[in-house]
Amino acid sequence: MDAFVDFKKHFSALHDPAVVYLDSAATTQVPDSVLAAVSSYARGGRGNPYRGLHTFAAKATKLLSSSRATVAAFIGARPEELLFTKGTTEGLNLVARALGSRLCPGDQVVLTIFEHHANLLPWRELARERGFSITYLPMAKNGSVDLELAKKIIGSRTKVVAVTQASNVLGTILPVYELAELAHDVGALVVVDAAQSVARLPVDVHQLGCDALAFGAHKMYGPEGIGAVYISDHLRPQLSPLLYGGGMVDEVLDDTIRYAEDLRLFEAGSPNVAGAVGFAAACEFLQLLGLEHVRQHELELTAKLVRALAELPRVIIHSPAPELGRVGVVSFSIEGVHSHDVAQLLADQGVAIRAGYHCAAPLTRCLDIGGTVRVSFGVYNDLADVDKLIEGVKTVLARFV
Ligand SMILES: Cc1ncc(COP(=O)(O)O)c(C=O)c1O
Repeated sequence: MDAFVDFKKHFSALHDPAVVYLDSAATTQVPDSVLAAVSSYARGGRGNPYRGLHTFAAKATKLLSSSRATVAAFIGARPEELLFTKGTTEGLNLVARALGSRLCPGDQVVLTIFEHHANLLPWRELARERGFSITYLPMAKNGSVDLELAKKIIGSRTKVVAVTQASNVLGTILPVYELAELAHDVGALVVVDAAQSVARLPVDVHQLGCDALAFGAHKMYGPEGIGAVYISDHLRPQLSPLLYGGGMVDEVLDDTIRYAEDLRLFEAGSPNVAGAVGFAAACEFLQLLGLEHVRQHELELTAKLVRALAELPRVIIHSPAPELGRVGVVSFSIEGVHSHDVAQLLADQGVAIRAGYHCAAPLTRCLDIGGTVRVSFGVYNDLADVDKLIEGVKTVLARFV
């Protein structure tokens, strides 16, 4: 925990000791270094990349390009493999639309029961339009997915396997690498939702062997409104733009349009340069800390939390055992108390957590647990935050006897 001692000082939002922020899976707070990078860009003069010849426009073009390189390198990709998006949801929609609109009745898309709606609804809508089927890999007894069952399900009809790398409800790390191997053995493409993993685990797209991987800056200490999607060289020719407009064309004549042949094709409209600069600064922030250290830090906090919760009466922990591999996201419920009541009573004590279904209805339905109380850690949390949360839960237990 050494690197993280007194770490809240890097986050202005957390200077008030009364604030205990344990909702980083929803969105993280932003370190001063990222805020400074964003404001220094605007203070130095904004410009619209690609379009202008003046100094500010040239600087913006350069910054957009260097930010793309930094964010791409963060996930082991090359700059030409990375598109900026508005966030994870947009990246996943872009990929689903490109792949799903080519599928036909008889084809199969394999998802897991752990998916967030962002990696579920686009496929559901396309399945309705195109008539292909969706099969969910269920949760196995050990709390992850059963690879033996996956071997039976992923077959010649499978065209896409789309999977989250870490569950936003339970924190479970899914065996993406193994699923990608099974998918590629039958010629299927692999799409990864990395919204909850990029800030918590080292991620390398080429090692994972995925064809697309989407993530967003606001869950990794960066700004809101920007994300990215890695698109493999192999997949890029199959992609069509989601948006049409300025910046994506080389020539527009009365009867023909010559579209850009590079990434600009998928990024119509004025780019979010401030967002990209902040995104890159967030990647640098995490790189400086080292993802291995971040992971150790989270595991330490998670272990203490789970031990303390397990000692409390009427508390049921839904997240898997630590041996299985999980990130710093823990769901639990309290018998006889609605999760929203728990969240409200904790909020009254300054403790911010999330309650409900977490946009993952199939998972919460399969667990038959209704809503859960979700604690999710960030780099700024410490053991004292866990103590405060546990004190808060004890107050809830005392109130609802
Ligand atoms: C696993 C997962 N996927 C996708 C998303 C969607 O991210 P965004 O709302 O930032 O687009 C979230 C957000 O909570 C998530 O947790």
